[in-house]
Amino acid sequence: MKYQLRPMTTDDISAVIEGEMRVFTHTLGFDLIYTDLTLNPYAYYFVLEIDGTIQGYMGLWIEDHAQIINFYVEKEYRCMGFGSMMLEFAIELCQMSHVKNITLEVRVSNDEAKNLYEKYGFKPSHFRKQYYENGEDALVMNKELEVE
Ligand SMILES: CC(C)(COP(=O)(O)OP(=O)(O)OC[C@H]1O[C@@H](n2cnc3c(N)ncnc32)[C@H](O)[C@@H]1OP(=O)(O)O)[C@@H](O)C(=O)NCCC(=O)NCCS
Repeated sequence: MKYQLRPMTTDDISAVIEGEMRVFTHTLGFDLIYTDLTLNPYAYYFVLEIDGTIQGYMGLWIEDHAQIINFYVEKEYRCMGFGSMMLEFAIELCQMSHVKNITLEVRVSNDEAKNLYEKYGFKPSHFRKQYYENGEDALVMNKELEVE
């Protein structure tokens, strides 16, 4: 198995949207992703490519603080360490950008993701009530970074 993490390009958008639909049944949408990739200097998107096809991605906004805006690994490649690898890469990117903290939203029922984030030092911060389309609450998680 050959894999790499690489910056996402506009050529990857359709594969990422198909993946988002499979995993979340909704997508950030072509326009938002395209604008982020082409115009937003604060947006950092990268893809997980395995044997030449996209099997995951992460989108981040890094301004005075950082926010993970979307993140998945395709089902058949989960529990193999790829999610950890991507999150570690994102944390390093944020450390290099000297931001003080990283936040994200996660469904309260999403134990896999919450476990992963907790493993990397994210702490529960607060809830956003009925944040998702099915009425589920979001848990906001926060990781403080050492700023040199
Ligand atoms: C969350 C997600 C990205 C994790 O990716 P992954 O490649 O499976 O993660 P890893 O193999 O690196 O696992 C890392 C940690 O995640 C947690 N984890 C992963 N799968 C888990 C499971 N089925 N049950 C419980 N914890 C789990 C564990 O803490 C694990 O650490 P451990 O192996 O030391 O126990 C993946 O499950 C996914 O894409 N889920 C659907 C989309 C999603 O929820 N995205 C996040 C939105 S906020």
